[in-house]
Amino acid sequence: MSGVLSGLLQAKAQPVVRIENLSSVFKTASGPAVIHKNLSLSVAAGEFLSVVGGSGSGKTVLLRQMLGLETPAQGRVTVLGRPADELGRAGASSRVGMLFQHGALFSAFTVLENIAFPLRELGTLPPALVRDAAMVKLQMVGLSPTHAHKMPADLSGGMIKRVALARALAMDPPLLLLDEPTAGLDPDSADAFCSLLQSLHHELGLTVVMVTHDLDTIFELSTRIAVVADKHVVVDAAPAVVAAFDHPFVHDFFRGGRGRRAQQLLHSAHNPA
Ligand SMILES: Nc1ncnc2c1ncn2[C@@H]1O[C@H](COP(=O)(O)OP(=O)(O)OP(=O)(O)O)[C@@H](O)[C@H]1O
Ligand SMILES: [Mg+2]
Repeated sequence: MSGVLSGLLQAKAQPVVRIENLSSVFKTASGPAVIHKNLSLSVAAGEFLSVVGGSGSGKTVLLRQMLGLETPAQGRVTVLGRPADELGRAGASSRVGMLFQHGALFSAFTVLENIAFPLRELGTLPPALVRDAAMVKLQMVGLSPTHAHKMPADLSGGMIKRVALARALAMDPPLLLLDEPTAGLDPDSADAFCSLLQSLHHELGLTVVMVTHDLDTIFELSTRIAVVADKHVVVDAAPAVVAAFDHPFVHDFFRGGRGRRAQQLLHSAHNPA
């Protein structure tokens, strides 16, 4: 086999995200707070991985570490073959798109200016090209060109999420990180946003890491689920395997009333009578 070919195959086999023995510690008034301890997790190309865990278990911190916005106390976070903090310093948005948990749009910018922001920051493209590229992204997330010149205050919650997603995808990153993408949406808008994520995952060949509490979204989209509890990943497997795993958090989360309903709904949607 040629060196180039084996190199390519090796690159393909390399995980898009590799987290090894991560420990995260924050200083608090009452002493150091250990959020993660010996946490390891890998994400392969093309996966749609959902990360679930209790509130405060460090899911958002984990995404921020993948983006290189935070450096762990110990351990290694490698993203697309490079240390995450190196990517972060280089401006991660060209390689990693992020939809933030409370990710507001810039309220003084129009929809199109918000989407164009990362491309404009780059400073290498002529304004007409930036505008055209942002317009393509606007339509990619299911919004019509008539929305381009609206202000964020004039949009519904579902539209705001779509614009934020278009901005996250502005630079065509191969990896997309989503923090609670359907939080705050009504059930119909959440369903529509979920379908959009599913089609973008397939059509763009994205690798996606999603943090969410929304069971419908988890079962609809995930190829794999990782559960963060007791400061590390306690199980990391296909959805059906995780839902049956014996752990108190998994039991409450997946086999409580909401979890059973979500699994039943999905089962009947896939197996109509
Ligand atoms: N920069 C920081 N300094 C100090 N403590 C922090 C910092 N960032 C996060 N924490 C703490 O780390 C813990 C984990 O936070 P994180 O936001 O990752 O939780 P989460 O799992 O995303 O929770 P939720 O489901 O509520 O969004 C919390 O106790 C939080 O207060
Ligand atoms: Mg969070």
